[in-house]
Amino acid sequence: MKSAKKTAWFCSNCGNEYHQWMGRCPACGEWNTLVEEPVGGHDPEAAEKDEAYTSRKKSFLGFRNQKPESLDKVAATDENRMTLGSVEVDRLLGGGLVEGSLVLLGGEPGIGKSTLSLQVALHCKGLNTLYVSGEESPKQIKLRAQRLGGNQSQCQVLGETVLENIVKIARETGPDILVIDSIQTVYSEKLDASAGSVSQVKECASALLRMAKATGIPVILVGHITKDGTIAGPKVLEHIVDVVLQFEGDSRGAYRILRSMKNRFGSTDEIAVFEMTGAGLREVTNPSELFIPMHKEDLSGIAIGSMLDGTRPLMIEVQALVSSAAYGMPQRSATGFDVRRLNMLLAVLEKRAGFRLGSKDVFLNMAGGLRVGDPAIDLAVVVAVLSSNLDIPVSQRCCFAAEVGLSGEIRPVTQVERRIAEARKLGFEEIFVSSFNKDSALARIPGDTIGIVPVPDIGSVLKHIGR
Ligand code: TYD
Ligand code: MG
Repeated sequence: MKSAKKTAWFCSNCGNEYHQWMGRCPACGEWNTLVEEPVGGHDPEAAEKDEAYTSRKKSFLGFRNQKPESLDKVAATDENRMTLGSVEVDRLLGGGLVEGSLVLLGGEPGIGKSTLSLQVALHCKGLNTLYVSGEESPKQIKLRAQRLGGNQSQCQVLGETVLENIVKIARETGPDILVIDSIQTVYSEKLDASAGSVSQVKECASALLRMAKATGIPVILVGHITKDGTIAGPKVLEHIVDVVLQFEGDSRGAYRILRSMKNRFGSTDEIAVFEMTGAGLREVTNPSELFIPMHKEDLSGIAIGSMLDGTRPLMIEVQALVSSAAYGMPQRSATGFDVRRLNMLLAVLEKRAGFRLGSKDVFLNMAGGLRVGDPAIDLAVVVAVLSSNLDIPVSQRCCFAAEVGLSGEIRPVTQVERRIAEARKLGFEEIFVSSFNKDSALARIPGDTIGIVPVPDIGSVLKHIGR
């Protein structure tokens, strides 16, 4: 018997499909994530023949009836890569865009995903690009392109949202790069569900992946991020694609960070910094300079710390304000830093260094709107807090790179040589590191312009900076 319209339940977090509603997704364990969506495969026999249905059931790549082969017989060839005309994006991708790869560019609305992808389409030298938009008309894209510069004749634009048409046109015209802005606006006519739903996003992405692998055309997918920070809702998109690049930052500010979250052809946790200008995105090649605004005089409550994002060291200004609590409960607030970690550091200062911060309000801010997760910033946080509390300025020619342990000891951090090298490059006079960082002595070079100060605990840091 043919039922009128079939539906299934999809988990909006991991994309798994169920026949009935459940409070909790058994696959990923999230609560209240199941949403009901129509499914296309009605007649089981027809459904077997239907490519969309079988692909959803079986495999993203459509691997079927393959024979196993000995690994030593598998030909090892380097991926063919094309350069995109942006040094930073190429570096993030691991040395250019790999032929036949599927790249997801995620980010919140207004952050600059369309700008970046169009900029790439216009600036990659000697490549033909096809820019498909379901969000803007070719006229609007033209207006944007005029601000971005580059070569407009190499870029074809297409306003289209039907997956089958996009795939057909891409196969016919054979561009060097295909950009789809955005995956949430594309839908397959084979499914009843509406565009942007879990099953559509999943199906469209896997169909585009199959096309990319079959034709060798790399595809850049633009994807919106939902409020809770997941790309396109379903996590499944992240499994399908080869590379996930995430655009972050405060859309009111000028600076944006492009982060590589997943890369099958390169390393992850790399970042690139861009500045949004009137003529598109400009690469910031030395981001450290950006996050340490130089004040004319030394101010209390400011310390410069070293953070490592991927393999790139960044110097960042940590600002603290300590004041007497006006009301009973002291406030602790942190921007860009984990407030629990701040509480822990304050407790260490009370217990191990004898500072009475229990009745003080403490506000902490990482300059430039960055989020810092690197524990090496601890020492700069502690110094900024103490500097504000004692109202003693710390020289801006000093920087800090160490973790602070529960007993007040200054702990070593990873890749201290890189951090020292960055501080030297930026002209710092001193860098404070842990005495337990064995490699820090090795980082010295003859005629060094930077003093490397090893410190074992908070007390000795204070002795140095209180001079
Ligand atoms: P957009 O790429 O449309 O964001 P998304 O696709 O991620 O939603 O970028 C939106 C912002 O970028 C918009 O507020 C205008 C700004 N912008 C510039 O400042 N300069 C430019 O050259 C361009 C094209 C956009
Ligand atoms: Mg856009």
